[in-house]
Amino acid sequence: MTRPNPALPIGIFDSGIGGLSVLDAIAARLPGEDLLYLGDTARLPYGTKSPETVARYAVQAAQHLVDRGVKMLVIACNTASAHAIPALSAAFPDIQVIGVIEPGAAAAVAAAPEGRIGVLATESTVSANAYQKAINALRGDADVRQQACSVFVALAEEGWIEGEVVESAARRYIEPILNHGRPKPEALVLGCTHFPLLRPTIAKIAGPDIAIVDSASTTAEAVAQALTDQGIDAPTPSGKVHFMATDSAPRFARVATIFLDRPIEPGDVEIVDL
Ligand code: DGL
Repeated sequence: MTRPNPALPIGIFDSGIGGLSVLDAIAARLPGEDLLYLGDTARLPYGTKSPETVARYAVQAAQHLVDRGVKMLVIACNTASAHAIPALSAAFPDIQVIGVIEPGAAAAVAAAPEGRIGVLATESTVSANAYQKAINALRGDADVRQQACSVFVALAEEGWIEGEVVESAARRYIEPILNHGRPKPEALVLGCTHFPLLRPTIAKIAGPDIAIVDSASTTAEAVAQALTDQGIDAPTPSGKVHFMATDSAPRFARVATIFLDRPIEPGDVEIVDL
């Protein structure tokens, strides 16, 4: 791997706006870094598509970031992290590719002293057993229960983060993994980068005894470590963020405003074609 130029931005990719939860954590942890974000909103959701299609889409999106010039790729989408890391590493051998599943699994294991972990993710991430494998690699005796929550993605993209509809979807998804005739999970990992937007409702349904964790801050830590290991930390103290999406700047801006809790205007979002 040749050493990339430290002045280049970090490329961050998701199927939509969910990866902004990861972008936010990276910006907080590494304020000097320029961040180039791409949400493939035209082809979302990825979570119900086949592994081959997810890998193909992810490589195309990453190609766009690489063509613009990035020093690292962060796959801020669990579904793409579950299916596309080998294809991405093969396609871009000179750029380190960091996914969100190992960092999310590490956060879950840290929050569950007895190893009882519930995983909420997309259908595709659950069928790949991606979290089960990553958690068991860290803790072989972990008791992992998984639940596909595909509707959460649409709710998050719609900006519906609380209220009756969200609560009833959350109850339907979460109750089965709480009541298995065995002790409740100690932690629930939000194994999809869209789900942190629904965190208050998920926490309400899960109850006060269950820790809710996601991969955002542990991924930011992994990125910080990887930059330092390669000696490619940004040379400037304050970085810029540039947003790109493959469809509808107004929609991206509306939901990004909720995600980032600061105003994002449609004019802040560049529309690109892959
Ligand atoms: N944000 C993606 C993830 O983390 C999934 C959303 C989608 O289905 O496209 O899995």
